[in-house]
Amino acid sequence: MSSLAIVGTQWGDEGKGKVVDLFASHADVVARYQGGNNAGHTLVVGGDKTILHLIPSGVLHEQTTCVIGSGVVVDPSVLCFEIDGLRSRGLLQRDGQLLVDERAHVILPVHRALDQARDAALGERGIGTTGRGIGPAYEDKMARRGVRMVDLLDSQVLRHRLELVLAERNALLRTVYGGEAFDIDPLFAEMRDFGQRLRPHIADVSSFLHDELAAGRRVLFEGAQAAMLDIDHGTYPYVTSSTTVAGAVATGSGVAPRWIGRVLGIAKAYTTRVGAGSFPTELTDDMGDHLRQAGGEYGSTTGRPRRCGWFDAVVVRQSARLSGLAGLALTKLDVLSGIHPLRVAVAYEVDGRRWARVPASAAEFEQARPIYEELEGFDGDLADIRRFEDLPEAARRYVSRIEELTGVPVTLISVGAERDETILLRDPFLL
Ligand code: IMP
Repeated sequence: MSSLAIVGTQWGDEGKGKVVDLFASHADVVARYQGGNNAGHTLVVGGDKTILHLIPSGVLHEQTTCVIGSGVVVDPSVLCFEIDGLRSRGLLQRDGQLLVDERAHVILPVHRALDQARDAALGERGIGTTGRGIGPAYEDKMARRGVRMVDLLDSQVLRHRLELVLAERNALLRTVYGGEAFDIDPLFAEMRDFGQRLRPHIADVSSFLHDELAAGRRVLFEGAQAAMLDIDHGTYPYVTSSTTVAGAVATGSGVAPRWIGRVLGIAKAYTTRVGAGSFPTELTDDMGDHLRQAGGEYGSTTGRPRRCGWFDAVVVRQSARLSGLAGLALTKLDVLSGIHPLRVAVAYEVDGRRWARVPASAAEFEQARPIYEELEGFDGDLADIRRFEDLPEAARRYVSRIEELTGVPVTLISVGAERDETILLRDPFLL
């Protein structure tokens, strides 16, 4: 099978961008299939940092076609900004290197305004969204009043769709949240202009991907966010508004499930979370601060400090089940250097009972106390290590214990931000 899907197994920010970028050199196509510019992938190549929110991480490879599937919600202003930024650095020189599905839904400024007004109105009880309009855009998609990329190319249709959206959203924004209504005329002109700019990229991605797969070309599906933020299977309501588990690859890209090959899960060697919601292994003490500093744990989309804690095997085991992981890429192992001892949550205690799963009830999850196993720590700089055998013995034991606890073989270990600071144990396409 010539396709590989890469998905997050925790609460996002596991380092998917680095892993996708690494494998993109072996891929003909890199496809995003869910989420929007709530994601943020930091790529470091030759000391040069690129942060992408929407365009797939494979764009740094000239021979790779990047596609955005119908399951993604696209903010056209962000897409144009990223295209301009890449072009000015000599990248993305061919229009055909980036395709956006004509069926993908558009994030409008009114979606952003609603997202922010709503979370602010909820105060302490807010989700802590990225404020990018993701949730409201998906709501309009499901309510069948959304604007799709293809609509940006037809003025009559565009105006009609915008009227539908604004009729409901302006009323909500004004009456419930006391916000300013959006005028149709400037919005229509803005969206029509984006349509003209993006016209060379708007395409039937489903059919393109099908033809590529049928011709035996290698397709990498790049997930955004992670299993615990999945709208169905995550820690609801503190989740994002899309399906983040591997099942979304098919629906969000328009490729039938039989074309989906292996799924590689990305897990950080510890755990982080941004936004609200329970986090059983969270460390609110000096150790949490140490992880944040050592791991540079600040959101690449919002700049928010990430909450940090020990590795939670319950979470990753559950994600392995949800996405059928064939392998695990363990990132940021180097950050754990110098910590003695290390801890890993193997189960939870909820109301006096041992739990091996993440409870569905937010109240029970709030009460979940991690049951820890202590593991010997390790020292030294791991950045130059390229072979598993060369890792300190305690680091190898830590990795092996994660394999046992999650039931998934570790096929890649990241020991630094750079592309080459990686220990590859197996070819991901041949897992
Ligand atoms: P939204 O996706 O902006 O609606 O935010 C919903 C929740 O998902 C919030 O807790 C966000 O912090 C979180 N979230 C969304 N995207 C990401 C991501 O790429 N990494 C980590 N957390 C994310």
